[in-house]
Amino acid sequence: MRIAVAGGTGVVGRHVVELARARGHEVDVLSRSKGVDLTAAGTVDLTGVEAIVDVTSVSTTIASKAKAFFTATARNLLAAGQAAGVGHYVLLSIAGIDGAPFGYYAGKLEQERLVSEGSMPWTILRATQFHEFAGQIHQRMKVGPLSLVPAMRSQPIAAREVASRLVDLAEAGPAGRVPDLAGPQEERMADLSRRWAKATGKKGIVVEAAIPGEFGQAMRDGTLLARPGAEHGSQTFDQWLQSAH
Ligand SMILES: NC(=O)c1ccc[n+]([C@@H]2O[C@H](COP(=O)([O-])OP(=O)(O)OC[C@H]3O[C@@H](n4cnc5c(N)ncnc54)[C@H](OP(=O)(O)O)[C@@H]3O)[C@@H](O)[C@H]2O)c1
Repeated sequence: MRIAVAGGTGVVGRHVVELARARGHEVDVLSRSKGVDLTAAGTVDLTGVEAIVDVTSVSTTIASKAKAFFTATARNLLAAGQAAGVGHYVLLSIAGIDGAPFGYYAGKLEQERLVSEGSMPWTILRATQFHEFAGQIHQRMKVGPLSLVPAMRSQPIAAREVASRLVDLAEAGPAGRVPDLAGPQEERMADLSRRWAKATGKKGIVVEAAIPGEFGQAMRDGTLLARPGAEHGSQTFDQWLQSAH
């Protein structure tokens, strides 16, 4: 089948593209580096496409920016999909976001709402943090030699396993909200960051910091874990570290 991967150059998107091609699908990659800005109306032609996999993202913690990005990209994909008669919109979202007040998640919730209330049959998969997240967060909050990592419970999963599930879902057809997808075991984000730093030779000390407020509480109390009935990937964080670094 022909699949358009919106965000197909990103952390999970590049695996979606590679795995879909390996399974014999024709893949269109939609991203700015491929000449398509999905925040600009009328820039995408989905003629011949049977399914969209949306794994776009924006780097922000500000709700208004996240909402503006995810609203524009979802509306443009829905409009282009409707014009071309695309039969399926597969969206990747994040486990637990409705219980955790955070600007980026407000954008994801709006994106979920637009897709689920939109004109195209849909599937929404919520996944937990990717294994890559521990390294990203280690580098993001640096104070001198310290890396501040939020006190956070997580069930990290290999982005490649999430990508494989997204291709399964695109092939299977519209299914609505499907079970969450999580990694094989629960971890603490600060421990993951320490193991990532050791494996990649990054210097400095990881300090686990309790983030104040409701969002910090949600990170600590398990709100961001997968909900009951979730499916689980098999590659542990340490196996991923060994294979990737
Ligand atoms: N990271 C996690 O731990 C995690 C966990 C669960 C779910 N998710 C969800 O998974 C999705 C993908 O996350 P990710 O970490 O793979 O993202 P990412 O690495 O930041 O990739 C984002 C993708 O979106 C594209 N993009 C950004 N702005 C665009 C625009 N205006 N027009 C077209 N394409 C644009 C980027 O390509 P260009 O820069 O070339 O445009 C890139 O291909 C997100 O929706 C995220 O919420 C992430």
